[in-house]
Amino acid sequence: MEKCKALIIAVDGHSSTGKSTVAKLLATRLGYVYIDTGAMYRAVTLAAMRNGLINGEYVDEEKLRICLKDLVIDFRYNEGHARNEIYLNGENVEERIRGMEVSGNVSLVARIGFVRTYLVEQQREMGKTGGIVMDGRDIGSVVFPNADVKFFMTASPQVRAMRRYKELTAKGEAVDYAEVEENVRKRDYIDEHREESPLKRTEDAVLIDNSNMTIEEEVQVMMAVIEKKKC
Ligand code: DC
Repeated sequence: MEKCKALIIAVDGHSSTGKSTVAKLLATRLGYVYIDTGAMYRAVTLAAMRNGLINGEYVDEEKLRICLKDLVIDFRYNEGHARNEIYLNGENVEERIRGMEVSGNVSLVARIGFVRTYLVEQQREMGKTGGIVMDGRDIGSVVFPNADVKFFMTASPQVRAMRRYKELTAKGEAVDYAEVEENVRKRDYIDEHREESPLKRTEDAVLIDNSNMTIEEEVQVMMAVIEKKKC
């Protein structure tokens, strides 16, 4: 019997479209590794904030370039939580990087060319043997332009803001909906208009608009696409 190929699956799209939720589910069903590249940009942002390198909209790029040399970012599997968690210099920062503060600053850091080059190199290394589901903004366009399967996920800004709002309030963060929607729209704008690797759907990416889909429906549609490529 033909041996199934260990695929590289790229999941790109707008923020708060549930990319990581479905990417994780796909990885579990396929027995693949899941890599959340947004978490890597968030970890660099946290390090920059801790070093006082972000002031309003200004990022001290010169110091960040030096700081980057000492950063060790890795993922470790947490059996209890059944997920990969991100570590920054040996510290588990999985929860810390998801708050509003890092979310508000991450686009400023993700648009810096040398930060992208540094992280893209690590991402290519992580996925080079296949058997991986990687989510982000530039996975199908830059990190793995030859990925076996590419998805591009979107949903209306209101649907995405409400999802994010519920997530944050469930964690006890005091936020108002308007602020969250503003953050979603601002991130879309920056992601789509930045000079370095702007977010865009490649021609070969399968579009998934999940505004009115359940997660299970989404996973089924995506698995059907993957199954065709697998063996
Ligand atoms: O997916 P996320 O919301 O955790 O991503 C955080 C930020 O990082 C978001 O503003 C876009 C950016 N990002 C990126 O530029 N490239 C990636 N591959 C992943 C995320």
